[in-house]
Amino acid sequence: MAQLAVKGGKPVRTEDFPVWPVWGDEEIQNLTDVVKSGKWGCLSGTRTAEFEQQFATYQHARHGICVNSGTTALRLALIAADVSARDEVIVPAYTFIATASAVIDMGGIPIFVDIDPETYNMDVKAAEQAITERTRAIMPVHFAGRPIDMDAVLALAKKHGLKVIEDAAQAWGAEWKGNRLGAMGDAGCFSFQSSKNINAGEGGIIITNDDMVAKMAHSHNNCGRSEDGLWYEHFYFGGNTRMTEFQAAVLQAQFGRYDEQKEIRQENLAYLNENLGEIEGIEPLADDENITSHGSHLYILRYKKESFANKPKEKFIEAMQQEGIPTSTGYSIPLYKQPVFLNKAFGPRGKTIDLPVDYASFDCPETEKACSEEAIWFTQNMLLGTRNDMNDIITAIKKVKENADEM
Ligand SMILES: Cc1ncc(COP(=O)(O)O)c(C=O)c1O
Repeated sequence: MAQLAVKGGKPVRTEDFPVWPVWGDEEIQNLTDVVKSGKWGCLSGTRTAEFEQQFATYQHARHGICVNSGTTALRLALIAADVSARDEVIVPAYTFIATASAVIDMGGIPIFVDIDPETYNMDVKAAEQAITERTRAIMPVHFAGRPIDMDAVLALAKKHGLKVIEDAAQAWGAEWKGNRLGAMGDAGCFSFQSSKNINAGEGGIIITNDDMVAKMAHSHNNCGRSEDGLWYEHFYFGGNTRMTEFQAAVLQAQFGRYDEQKEIRQENLAYLNENLGEIEGIEPLADDENITSHGSHLYILRYKKESFANKPKEKFIEAMQQEGIPTSTGYSIPLYKQPVFLNKAFGPRGKTIDLPVDYASFDCPETEKACSEEAIWFTQNMLLGTRNDMNDIITAIKKVKENADEM
């Protein structure tokens, strides 16, 4: 008789994992207050400015500029940090498209580099090899909330005179050697989109310790205005990418719960690392004692099919899902292989804009391997579960391994 649920056996669990978002009376009260105040935009209300300061302080930064998404945050941070059209910006090939599309959107040229297979973060040595005389900035991503080696990133940037814009869209409160991420370089960007651990439906923030970057980000976010100029006086190029007071109201409530949730996620992440690390063919991302806090946005493991009867990861994912464990493949296409990059379809209606780069010539083997063979993702809401929930994940993986022939 078959053991695996995918072949008709009894699943490990049938209960749901914790749902996301988590919300309570605070969100309702804050939203009600905003509605009643009649001050719905950040230029009339005070909540967005309050949250900017709260979050910046939390991230060990002096300035915070709230915007309408993490993607906007990246685009404006690049411009505010003085990256220009046709400048090259180094980004990892294994990330959400926004990291690269923000560069395209401001007229720059994303140059993709491979990831370190132990961390799934940008390989800083590969980044160094990708530097040309046109390189202006490096944009490391703290993938899954796991900080990249910021010492290596900052040293590389210093050596080559590069701007550092951290894509910390998944890394609220994460730390490298006790330093929170985002403001160690020129600027850092966070997302508050629905799936994120601090969620306002949509939203983002730029943080920085650089007064000029802050001033320019504020202005670009607010139609090119200046703090001491007239309402209809526009000094710089900019649009309206401001956050609303409704988003800030929800963010304040979400933020109030964040540290407690972060602790639960981190404990579960450590527990999974400890227990899954013992299973041959399952490799959690490498630990690093310099990571003093992990953003815990995703739990990532690497699947080695040799230990699972040579079954491809899609079979493993399907088997796990049938056992009652929501399991996903994550990014399945390296960014340089996305049609938009292969075709340089950066113009209106997909028209080609012939930037001086050939994305078809890129080859990042570790990214390819993560996408097609190894990377397995569990989402942050699962990390809010109980010890029993974590044990079910471990049990399901062991069960699928023991019966891998059935997949
Ligand atoms: C690594 C990364 N960068 C950028 C973004 C863009 O953020 P948003 O969806 O808020 O625009 C996201 C999330 O969606 C992300 O995961």
